[in-house]
Amino acid sequence: MKDTDTRRLSWDEWDEFNDPRPADSGFDRVVERALSRRGFLGGVIAFGSGAAVMGAGTLLSAPAAEAAEGARFAFAPIPAQTDNTVHVPEGYSWKPLVKWGDPLFSDAPVFDHATGGSVQGSDRIFGENTDGMELFEIGGHQVIAVNHEYANPEVNLPHSVDGVPATAEEVAKLQNLQGVAVFEIAEGKDGWSIVVDSPFNRRITHGTPMRLSGPAAGHDLLKTVADPEGMTVLGTLNNCGAGRTPWGTYLTCEENFNGYFGSTVAGAELPEDFKRYGVGDESRYAYEKFDPRFDIATTPNEPRRHGYVVEIDPADAASVPVKRTALGRLKHENAAVTLAPDGRVVVYMGDDERGEFLYRYVSHGFYAPGVDTSRLLDEGRLYVARFNDDLTGEWVELTPEATGMTGAEILIFTRMAASKVGATTMDRPEWVAVNPVAVEGYCALTNNKNRGKKPNEGGDPTPVNGPNPREANEYGQIVRWYPEDDDHGSDRFGWDLYVMAGNPTVHKDAYAGSKNVNAGNLFNSPDGMMFDTTGLLWIQTDGEDTNEGDFAGMGNNQMLAGDPATCQIERFMTGPLGAEVTGLTWSADRRTMFVGIQHPAAPFPDGEGKLPRSTVIAIKRNDNALVG
Ligand code: FEO
Ligand code: CA
Ligand code: CA
Repeated sequence: MKDTDTRRLSWDEWDEFNDPRPADSGFDRVVERALSRRGFLGGVIAFGSGAAVMGAGTLLSAPAAEAAEGARFAFAPIPAQTDNTVHVPEGYSWKPLVKWGDPLFSDAPVFDHATGGSVQGSDRIFGENTDGMELFEIGGHQVIAVNHEYANPEVNLPHSVDGVPATAEEVAKLQNLQGVAVFEIAEGKDGWSIVVDSPFNRRITHGTPMRLSGPAAGHDLLKTVADPEGMTVLGTLNNCGAGRTPWGTYLTCEENFNGYFGSTVAGAELPEDFKRYGVGDESRYAYEKFDPRFDIATTPNEPRRHGYVVEIDPADAASVPVKRTALGRLKHENAAVTLAPDGRVVVYMGDDERGEFLYRYVSHGFYAPGVDTSRLLDEGRLYVARFNDDLTGEWVELTPEATGMTGAEILIFTRMAASKVGATTMDRPEWVAVNPVAVEGYCALTNNKNRGKKPNEGGDPTPVNGPNPREANEYGQIVRWYPEDDDHGSDRFGWDLYVMAGNPTVHKDAYAGSKNVNAGNLFNSPDGMMFDTTGLLWIQTDGEDTNEGDFAGMGNNQMLAGDPATCQIERFMTGPLGAEVTGLTWSADRRTMFVGIQHPAAPFPDGEGKLPRSTVIAIKRNDNALVG
């Protein structure tokens, strides 16, 4: 964390900052301990001879120079950048598709740089802080669903004091600027633009009614005075990564929901689950002062109604979003959906907090085109990953017998259930991606400055372990697993590390990273990940962009492409200073890629004197060839 001006922190960073434990750096001690584990780390790092050590062996077994022989990238890699704009390779170009504040409907106000927009119409525009997204082709129309993860009050309430909303109206504006946007786009002679007033267009906000579904729906823990049945929730919170189902729906994932809740009666003893999920007296946006739903002193069950995967039908703007409790309650990053060979639906999900876990859901029912899909995400089994140091692993089912909890409790207090079965603590699981041309999954473990210490209030100890082999892990890694029998429904897997980010220009030890990291592709904190249809892995970063010290040569956050076969990784795009690159999807013809630029610090993309605006950009090849 580069500063303590909490107004400028991303939501992930804010959640980390608010962690009650002191951040002990003590780098010398960390290095000493890491080196004392050279025998183990040597196996992980020295993959040059590592086929046996690394099991599946394709992994880090090839030095970068050899890896280049198998390269199949259709671009010339670009250098790191530190400026305030976007860079793409020669032969490619980019332009904004949509910026925070752009109208989705003709009755919405035109964006006002002086005020950041009024509360009126703030639910009729593209929201703030774009994140996960998917494009759907619906009857010849191209429709994007995209998350608005959080808000930057110091930007969108420019006249506020320190970005703290002072009125119910300002809170309502923030609530409208977050959630999800669904809108149609079309490509004309000047490029892509929104089809304003399309019947597909809608905004889903912190106030949109949605239905609770699955085994925990209607449980006493989910009932409030306003919803005595425990079946209807207002809003979806902190929508981070995304996913899509084979039946054409969008999955939006509620991540750091805890930060919206506070107490008007501070100091009361908090229940165990509040501690584990980080729900406390102090919220980030002071919602609780103006909206009692967010006051844990009066509505203690409300936080338990958030932290789910939410299914949205992008084809029907009047449809009611559904919170799928069967997929568990955690700080959901994204939801990577695939199918087992027999047609069962498999969903991989990361819980983004230090020392939390990687999960898998497997449906009871089978998907095939035309079947009733309404229960496929309600009826199934939930598992958590256990990685063994011998490069094997298993999915451990969260059952009442294994956890001593009821089925509904497992789905509401999922973190605690996973702790009871000895799941492997991970270095902040961010996006999961499933390779469409090989049976393997990938999870970005973004970083974990506290590996080796207690990870999270009420969480498990976090000694270094197989897929998380470094203490004070400031760079992150990507773990990959190979389901047994090439079956994502199998309960066993082999695993390896696809890459350990690091800086070989600064370090010679474990912090140099794996052999597929070199001076030409330096990055830290992998976060967003998506495969294209050809099986290239696109990696987006949300990390330290000081370009100094341990991060020298890495520049701004960026997007890289990785070849699963050779492990080669090359830099494709760089974002503007201060921004996180997150969210990626493609046009139906695969000739345009859409990339999210979240929380730019500089006045991107409108230039000096303007407000910085979170933006989705469109990237094309100048010869209009395929880009994914
Ligand atoms: Fe919203 Fe963990 O990223
Ligand atoms: Ca993320
Ligand atoms: Ca992140």
